[in-house]
Amino acid sequence: MSRLAGKVAVVTGAGSGIGRAAAAAFAAEGAKVGLLDRNAAAVEALSVALGEAAYPLPTDVTSEASVAAAFEEVRRRHGRLDVLATYAAVQLVGEDAPADELELAVWERTLAVNLTGVFLCCKHGLRLMLESGAGGSVINCGSPTGETMCGAGFSAYSASKAGVMGLTRTLAADYAKHGIRVNGIVPGTIETPLTAALTSDPAARAALVAGTPLGRLGTPDDLAGVAVFLASDGSRFATGAHFHVDGGISVR
Ligand SMILES: NC(=O)c1ccc[n+]([C@@H]2O[C@H](COP(=O)([O-])OP(=O)(O)OC[C@H]3O[C@@H](n4cnc5c(N)ncnc54)[C@H](O)[C@@H]3O)[C@@H](O)[C@H]2O)c1
Repeated sequence: MSRLAGKVAVVTGAGSGIGRAAAAAFAAEGAKVGLLDRNAAAVEALSVALGEAAYPLPTDVTSEASVAAAFEEVRRRHGRLDVLATYAAVQLVGEDAPADELELAVWERTLAVNLTGVFLCCKHGLRLMLESGAGGSVINCGSPTGETMCGAGFSAYSASKAGVMGLTRTLAADYAKHGIRVNGIVPGTIETPLTAALTSDPAARAALVAGTPLGRLGTPDDLAGVAVFLASDGSRFATGAHFHVDGGISVR
């Protein structure tokens, strides 16, 4: 398939989990993909695996200078950007906590990566999309914890994801006139390093599976199809929406 043939994409958090699977799917669909992550070794290895379709962009999304340099590299290579998918995030399991117990440093670290990092990547990615004048698609990654459920004990993570989902709607409103669509993906519980501390505990895992109507936890590949759809022209009339890919937890 080549639903993204000719498109230039950047995927943040491409070094692991859901971002890695999305980046590989974009490459398989014909896009040129910048693999953005602070884990330089991981994106270097993925770029080797994906061949000419991809290249590493070792970047810390909390640093505007680092993010600006990454998008400058995309500008130098391609002169434009069609798709930006932001997945880079942290969930500080064991440190994130109810508000009265939460260390300010944990709050600030989480917000810096998960919310400020998304803002900075959107800021510099949108500038490149606007320069090219050909529209584009931005895909941000929310979470059920940012809406109505599952967030107990994770004040910083949940607030960061609520912020991302609000930012997604605002961006959609601001950039529609430029033909730039901005949508969100809301995954359920997906087996990645982010959730390993939870899913490796048998009792917690059983509870998560029991709460998922489709009867299993998700894999990163389960999220790749919706990302390809949102990146492609097949979703050309969708903007400002959140797409729940969660095994049904939002309707249980
Ligand atoms: N796994 C789930 O169950 C789940 C559920 C809902 C939402 N999400 C969201 O999905 C997205 C991907 O999560 P995942 O489970 O694949 O996580 P993951 O831990 O497997 O991958 C996250 C990636 O982000 C990168 N990263 C972290 N801090 C960074 C920084 N400062 N700069 C650049 N890169 C940085 C990491 O190096 C890593 O490669 C996240 O936004 C997460 O909040 C995940």
